[in-house]
Amino acid sequence: MSSAVTYNDKVVRQFAIMTVVWGIVGMAVGVLIAAQLVWPALNFDLPWLTYSRLRPLHTNAVIFAFGGCALFATSYYVVQRTCQVRLALDHLASFTFWGWQLVIVSAAITLPLGITTSKEYAELEWPIDILITLVWVSYALVFFTTIIKRKTPHIYVANWFYGAFILTVAVLHLVNSAAIPISLTKSYSVYPGAIDAMVQWWYGHNAVGFFLTAGFLGMMYYFIPKQAGRPVYSYRLSVVHFWALISTYMWAGPHHLHYTALPDWTQTLGMVFSLILLAPSWGGMINGIMTLSGAWHKLRDDPILRFLIVSLSFYGMSTFEGPMMSIKTVNSLSHYTDWTIGHVHSGALGWVALVSIGAIYVLIPKLFNKTSMYSIKLINTHFWVSTIGIILYITSMWVAGIMQGLMWRAVNDDGTLTYSFVEALERMYPYYTVRFLGGLLFLSGMFIMAYNVWKTVSSSEQTQATNTDVTVKASERSES
Ligand code: HEM
Ligand code: HEM
Repeated sequence: MSSAVTYNDKVVRQFAIMTVVWGIVGMAVGVLIAAQLVWPALNFDLPWLTYSRLRPLHTNAVIFAFGGCALFATSYYVVQRTCQVRLALDHLASFTFWGWQLVIVSAAITLPLGITTSKEYAELEWPIDILITLVWVSYALVFFTTIIKRKTPHIYVANWFYGAFILTVAVLHLVNSAAIPISLTKSYSVYPGAIDAMVQWWYGHNAVGFFLTAGFLGMMYYFIPKQAGRPVYSYRLSVVHFWALISTYMWAGPHHLHYTALPDWTQTLGMVFSLILLAPSWGGMINGIMTLSGAWHKLRDDPILRFLIVSLSFYGMSTFEGPMMSIKTVNSLSHYTDWTIGHVHSGALGWVALVSIGAIYVLIPKLFNKTSMYSIKLINTHFWVSTIGIILYITSMWVAGIMQGLMWRAVNDDGTLTYSFVEALERMYPYYTVRFLGGLLFLSGMFIMAYNVWKTVSSSEQTQATNTDVTVKASERSES
């Protein structure tokens, strides 16, 4: 029985708290660069505050620090509960925490200094890449040894998603980061020209598919049934979802390189696989949302469940939008524009951030032996502030993006361009301001969360249910 097992929750607690901390840091940098696009003087003429250096700092901080810590925390929690054994290899698990924090701090120092490989989402230089490899191999050892030691006859589907995420990210990182160092802070990719681009976007797209999707689907498959107090809608669909998703994602990368020097057939292949990807993505979304069937009323008074379910709606939206954008003729309008940025953040804020926030709200009281979060009302406020923030962000970017695309391609009868680039840029100011405000709202939500987490963790109230995995029912929660 689970109650007889002493779980290793220390490492889960560490990662859970750092999810909130890095979320605030990464999103604060996001808000700063959003502000710089409205008020360029905000770089204060300091090289390390320039947009070009802070942008990769933002993406690394939100994806790998915020998202990464959420994935470590939840995967370590879920694998123990669903396998009913303690996490394997205590010391190695602890190394994954400290090693990952070191990777993040190294990124936060080197990127503003301008030390970069210039490969998007893989900007960190080779010494940090080696550290990432060590942490990741340790992560795989801890996770898969725990699976091997499991006391349950089968492997719950959430672990399949987490496992695929861990294995695939290892392969992606090793292949894409292959480089020849010429000094401690500079290396060059081993791949030439178009091959480098192809490898980079095979990596880039699968980073979306496995880092920003598969791992979070693992989270979804555990926390939605838990919080809803119902079994997953269809276990069979979840297995089909798993195999269909992971076998399709691998081939879709070239949609990032339409109309480039890549062979035309690879672009078409990428487009076709992206269109196919709609089916497994929506299969997963429907499976998650339908888990609530018969319990829809819970959405009314449980804001944590609302975070989790709304995240799936955004997942559905961005995985509908993505395949549309991968159609070459649509991409000829959307590429290089803010439409892509809108798509990214409907996935990143709407899906990744909301599902992580929901999962962390479920975890915090359990990890610190409290009956519930300090204030459910504040969770509700957080939900609305962040949802309004996302809507402002993505709608402004859609309008800005489509307007840019149309202005750039408009031509006069004599074949000259109707608008100069600067004219199109000038039209962007109102939209960039709205995006900045949306981002600011989302960031304020994170501060509300930090306060709520702080009050929960530091409260003197204790529960006895340390190891039992009780679903907190909304009706049982009391306001403090
Ligand atoms: C069926 C699923 C999806 C498909 C087919 C898809 C497709 C696309 C396409 C066509 C682009 C534009 C490429 C370009 O013009 O440069 C794009 C960009 C992007 N998508 Fe998606 N998308 C999907 C889901 C998602 C999700 C769920 C997320 C986030 C969690 C996401 C994150 C991104 C990112 C970060 C980029 C920008 C990459 C860059 O240029 O830096 N996508 N996606
Ligand atoms: C307060 C919240 C956030 C704000 C204000 C914000 C703002 C920004 C801005 C201004 C950019 C640059 C856009 C451009 O170059 O035109 C950007 C890029 C990006 N952000 Fe965020 N962001 C936020 C949260 C997040 C989160 C939570 C994630 C991921 C989990 C994320 C992932 C990304 C990615 C992947 C890109 C690069 C997109 C591309 O190259 O196409 N952001 N963000």
